[in-house]
Amino acid sequence: MTEQHRVAIVTGSASGIGAATAIELARRGWRVVVNYANSAAGAQQVVDQCVQAGGQAIAVQADVSVDADCRRLVQAAITQWGRLDALVNNAGTTKFVAHANLDGLSAEDFQVIYATNVIGPFQMTRAAASALKDSGRGAVVNVSSVAALLGTGSSIAYAASKGALNTMTRSLARVLGPTVRVNAVSPGFVDTPWMVAGHGGPEKYKQRAEHYSSLVPLKNTCLPADVADTIVWLIEGAPKTTGDNIYIDAGMHMAQAK
Ligand code: NAI
Repeated sequence: MTEQHRVAIVTGSASGIGAATAIELARRGWRVVVNYANSAAGAQQVVDQCVQAGGQAIAVQADVSVDADCRRLVQAAITQWGRLDALVNNAGTTKFVAHANLDGLSAEDFQVIYATNVIGPFQMTRAAASALKDSGRGAVVNVSSVAALLGTGSSIAYAASKGALNTMTRSLARVLGPTVRVNAVSPGFVDTPWMVAGHGGPEKYKQRAEHYSSLVPLKNTCLPADVADTIVWLIEGAPKTTGDNIYIDAGMHMAQAK
């Protein structure tokens, strides 16, 4: 099979960073499995955009916190195209709780967030490992967050889940080499539906975006396409990079927290 026919799964790609990544891969000739949890209509729109971009795509419903769904999702790629070359563990969830409000987070909140943000990527990688090894140059990219480094973000449970994902990225990179590379990207403030909803609507979101921009060296926020470009580079390029974590945050990881 030729280079243009490589196959990727992007979890949680009915919107935001995942959608931008699926479309960019399709533009480069990849076959893409667009995974969604609930939004069948959103996933179909992304599939249509992938086809318009010159690739092929299918939409597959699966909840990454459920192991049987992860195995079914990987099988869908194999059944459709006979191979799997890249996995982007992008699906993520959170609960917006002020960090000082310790009573605002329950054990169940942690369990729900970890189920998608930590156990999900583990289950997906485990389900995909054999096919990625068969590819001969498989790649996994985990979508983490600058919140893991800074201990900031939508809640303490969310920041901790991304810290666990960073550690797992390194563990998996050790065991899946030499044929599979495992890396992470850590976005900062990215303009996606998640951020607008989480900040209580467009007006508050705009204020928060301006505040963020004022703190960081590049005086800006990020777009989903900025993150997608780095994810695609880690998949297609970077042949000697594994166990790494790249910040796409306009420099927030060096900024003074306020
Ligand atoms: P988004 O809300 O557009 O995308 C997240 C997607 O994950 C949604 O489509 C959602 O349905 C899906 N999802 C959630 N739980 C799932 C599950 N159990 N199984 C399958 N799909 C599931 O938001 P965005 O911003 O594009 O988020 C993508 C990733 O980027 C997440 O992992 C998030 O933590 C990370 N991130 C986002 C930042 C931002 O500023 N927007 C900053 C840092 C990291």
